[in-house]
Amino acid sequence: MGDFLELAAKRQSCRSFSDKPVEREKLLKCVEAARLAPSACNSQPWSVVVVEDPKVVPLVAEGTMQLGANSYIKDAKAFFVVVEETAKLMPAVAKICESQVFARGDLGGFALSLTLEAESLGLGTCILGLFDRPRLRELLNIPAEKNIFLVVAAGYPRDGKIREKSRKPLDEICRFV
Ligand SMILES: Cc1cc2nc3c(=O)[nH]c(=O)nc-3n(C[C@H](O)[C@H](O)[C@H](O)COP(=O)(O)O)c2cc1C
Repeated sequence: MGDFLELAAKRQSCRSFSDKPVEREKLLKCVEAARLAPSACNSQPWSVVVVEDPKVVPLVAEGTMQLGANSYIKDAKAFFVVVEETAKLMPAVAKICESQVFARGDLGGFALSLTLEAESLGLGTCILGLFDRPRLRELLNIPAEKNIFLVVAAGYPRDGKIREKSRKPLDEICRFV
């Protein structure tokens, strides 16, 4: 198995974190990897709030648990709050496409790069789509007109067990012509 495939296979959603804090340097490397992700017209429709302050982390954790989900996130040591920004597409593209049409795909790539870099640094992550958006917006001073797209919980995994992946088989999702 090549190195990248190995990394992709090892990355899994981590829902139980150890008490060890995460070094800022590692958090920054995750953002750096995400920043290098591709985007339509190189529009980079993203920004991120990295939450590492031990006083604020539990408040964000509460915001991700408020909808009755994600109770296992309570021990996360940091959060990346990923915000959708306005995409500035090239004029020729903007003429035929609405500005945000590619943004969600771009943001998915941003989040995936971030989680893969985290994995390579020995960190566990869990992408969260379910959270109390108004509450996090208020807590982190994110303007009302901006969409918090995803939250990524991070920390050192409590155990290093790799689960078997549950995925559609290759021949169901892929064909060659
Ligand atoms: C956009 C998105 C939203 C997600 N939201 C949640 C969530 O709110 N809570 C959660 O526990 N996992 C969430 N996940 C994690 C998925 O459940 C997980 O990626 C999937 O089951 C595959 O498992 P793996 O990441 O361990 O390979 C989300 C993943 C993505 C990509």
